[in-house]
Amino acid sequence: IKITYMDAAGTSREVEAEEGSTVMETAIRNGVPGIDAECGGACSCATCHVYVDEEWVEAVGPPQPMEEDMLDFASDVRPNSRLSCQIRVRPELDGLVVQTPKRQG
Ligand code: FES
Repeated sequence: IKITYMDAAGTSREVEAEEGSTVMETAIRNGVPGIDAECGGACSCATCHVYVDEEWVEAVGPPQPMEEDMLDFASDVRPNSRLSCQIRVRPELDGLVVQTPKRQG
């Protein structure tokens, strides 16, 4: 399952993700910059904020209520904002593209 992370400057990195892990864990494991994940995936820091590529918004789905509350703490939130620790990697997401924000926190 391939995931592409694009940074704010437009540099993209394609990495191999394992089914069942999260988009955040995959980024950390592969040293993708721009995702800090201070809380380690507990949905309580919002430093794993990403923008889901428009074409993928539907496949990824909307945030859960708890995630939505946490997104209030992220900066520059958009309709396609998600916390990457709450996106689980599954086969349908092969080819997923997410963009990391300019700055986290
Ligand atoms: Fe903290 Fe996702 S890693 S909210």
